[in-house]
Amino acid sequence: MGLFGPPRLSYFYSCIPATSARKDPPAMSTSTTTPRVTPVALITGGSRGLGKSMALHLADHGIDVVVTYKSGEREAREVVAAMQQKGRKAAALALDVGDSRSFAAFANTLAHELEATFQRDRFDHLVNNAGSGAHASFAETTEEQFDQMVNVHLKSTFFLTQKLLPLIADGGRILNVSSGLTRFTFPGYAAYASVKGAVEVLTHYLAKELGPRRITVNTVAPGAIETDFGGGAVRDNQELNKMIAGMTALGRVGLPDDIGAAVSLLLAPEANWITGQRIEVSGGTLL
Ligand SMILES: NC(=O)c1ccc[n+]([C@@H]2O[C@H](COP(=O)([O-])OP(=O)(O)OC[C@H]3O[C@@H](n4cnc5c(N)ncnc54)[C@H](OP(=O)(O)O)[C@@H]3O)[C@@H](O)[C@H]2O)c1
Repeated sequence: MGLFGPPRLSYFYSCIPATSARKDPPAMSTSTTTPRVTPVALITGGSRGLGKSMALHLADHGIDVVVTYKSGEREAREVVAAMQQKGRKAAALALDVGDSRSFAAFANTLAHELEATFQRDRFDHLVNNAGSGAHASFAETTEEQFDQMVNVHLKSTFFLTQKLLPLIADGGRILNVSSGLTRFTFPGYAAYASVKGAVEVLTHYLAKELGPRRITVNTVAPGAIETDFGGGAVRDNQELNKMIAGMTALGRVGLPDDIGAAVSLLLAPEANWITGQRIEVSGGTLL
């Protein structure tokens, strides 16, 4: 065959690193007396919107949570207080996901917080959620808007996850938040949706490379949800809200709790065999 003919099976085998050779799974403990460590999740952008709902749902399912905020310190502290009222340990840390130079210092701060608040040296679940949108036609999108989307969504997911890897426990989970806009199109989201698409590709690579550590990596892709995102347009613009509801199988737009509940489902122990997947949570928009 020519250059692009089917590669031989031996080629694929030669690509498999020795470390990914099949190993027997670790023995399951049958002891009922072994104390179970409470999982800790880190949710970026947990001060409001989807991240806040995720934090509260995880707290309801017995998971301790660190949320991050950029400008909403007061709101983040309120989320922490709400989780503590549910009997959970919780903390809030400042983080600008658009500033990759700050990630190493953030990892240090997180390590101290894990020790001080959770008596842990690792955490279990990373949810790369923080971010904002940019709405402009392809023709009018500026380089500055494009770079901001790359930094806030793609570069942050790549390098924050890289910096936090040593702190993520083996057997942990990573969820990257993408968007329904990578499957269907609405004019005005070329830059935003393109970088979310790249996040989905990154998810595949992370799932492959972190598999030997039994870390699962998946994408959650919400449809249009009533939050502050995009100036709160889906929530506040009744015409837009009705239009999206009309193209959605379940007949409405999404609410933050639709996503919070789905995330807690994907972080449940029963979901441990799901990896490298894109799970859309849109109520069936534009099916
Ligand atoms: N809502 C939707 O329709 C929708 C649909 C698909 C995907 N998504 C995705 O879901 C994620 C959350 O969106 P949302 O609807 O919850 O938006 P939101 O209500 O506007 O909340 C955004 C959150 O991200 C934080 N954040 C924003 N920019 C940040 C930055 N540069 N550094 C650190 N934190 C930052 C905010 O923190 P502060 O409040 O502290 O500034 C806030 O906690 C985003 O990745 C978004 O792209 C949303």
